[in-house]
Amino acid sequence: MKNIKPYINQHKDRFINELIELLKIPSISADSAYKNDVLKASIAVKNALKDAGCDSVEICDTPGNPIVYGEKIIDSNLPTILVYGHYDVQPADPIELWDSPPFEPTIKKTDIHPEGAIFARGACDDKGQMYMHIKAMEFMTSTNQLPCNVKFMIEGEEEVGSGNLSWFVKQNQEKLANDIILISDTGMISNSQPSITTGLRGLSYVEVEVTGPNRDLHSGLYGGAVANPINILIKMIASLHDENNCITIPGFYDNVEDLSIEERNEMAKAPFSLDAYKKALDIEEVYGEKGYTTNERNSIRPTLDVNGHWGGYTGEGAKTVIASKANAKISMRLVPNQDWVTITELFKKHFESIAPKSVTVKVTPHHGGQGYVTPTDNIGYQAANKAYTETFGVQAIPQRSGGSIPIVSLFEKELKSKTILMGFGLDSDAIHSPNEHFGIFNYLKGIETIPLFYKYFTEMSEKK
Ligand code: BES
Ligand code: MN
Ligand code: MN
Repeated sequence: MKNIKPYINQHKDRFINELIELLKIPSISADSAYKNDVLKASIAVKNALKDAGCDSVEICDTPGNPIVYGEKIIDSNLPTILVYGHYDVQPADPIELWDSPPFEPTIKKTDIHPEGAIFARGACDDKGQMYMHIKAMEFMTSTNQLPCNVKFMIEGEEEVGSGNLSWFVKQNQEKLANDIILISDTGMISNSQPSITTGLRGLSYVEVEVTGPNRDLHSGLYGGAVANPINILIKMIASLHDENNCITIPGFYDNVEDLSIEERNEMAKAPFSLDAYKKALDIEEVYGEKGYTTNERNSIRPTLDVNGHWGGYTGEGAKTVIASKANAKISMRLVPNQDWVTITELFKKHFESIAPKSVTVKVTPHHGGQGYVTPTDNIGYQAANKAYTETFGVQAIPQRSGGSIPIVSLFEKELKSKTILMGFGLDSDAIHSPNEHFGIFNYLKGIETIPLFYKYFTEMSEKK
């Protein structure tokens, strides 16, 4: 492809400024107070797709947040790429831990990003990475180099489980028909070592409530004589892992696929420094399931974590009280072959069974999804690897990620196509955390690499 680099150089300030405008919109899907901003973001994405050369763009209403759809079909004999991304973001709290306000994007240099990074909620996850695709599209259409058909589907509910997108996909199989799905919503190893995400974990997210006495009680008058729901909840949660940090729910590991020694050895070749990992997190030691390395623990092994818990008195000073209720939110990250509905049921059954008679337990499932593995022996992976190799000067390494994009397995089921995860973020970009950022280098490198994927995927499809 001609002139990618000069085009990016010429337009990079505008590319950055356009992204900054999008990042100013607090499109937080988890909080209904931001409903209008979510709508505003969807309109901004629609306009950007139109400006980038899509022939038709529309905002598709759903019972929840709208899905933005755009396409440019140049020839029905050519392959079609479906680009997926999300314009919604995670809540910004705890807001006091941000060095600059989450919705006032600021460019700052860091050790890892000497060329500067944009600090804002959504900078990396996923507005920045999604917008790379729109700018790559702009480059291809305005220089007459779009080699194939393209469809964009950008949703506004990824961070809350994509409930309405699954409905939309099932309703619109024809409209969404494609040869490959392309997503930039994951990361890579480092700015000198690109990687292609070949696996995502599944997810089961549940909320639990333990109820003891019918009202809060004086902890002196009643303490010791009735079950304290907080004590009980903590005990129950603690019992979910054994001394080897294995999960104790019966049947939990039944379908977990064990990787061969060869596969594990292959995984271990990816560059990784345990010292740097510990240093970055300011921890003395790592922690996890016995018999597995850090990279295995956070990718090919399932986990169970409390994401939040509450109950009792947490205000200033001391209040002597036994609370009536205690609650927790728990996520289980699952690996391919573990079915999230089955795991949710196993959790519910087990959690109810370990509760003493002195309390009642309620388990409420939130959302979930299956894991996903992308094979490396297909032209989608190979085209992506060729594209990275050209722009980074080294081959990409296949890497399974610990994160989840539950809709990907549904895409495979409903649309019968594979997904290629071309991520350009770094683990240190602090997605979901305070001070989320996205490197300018990464943003521009993404815009440079994506058109090459289009090119190589189209060429390889022809040869098939
Ligand atoms: N983009 C992330 C997932 C991700 C990030 C995968 C980095 C791999 C590497 C996505 O927006 C996300 O946060 N997903 C949620 C699940 C969702 C159902 C809320 C997650 O993984 O917690
Ligand atoms: Mn994301
Ligand atoms: Mn996210």
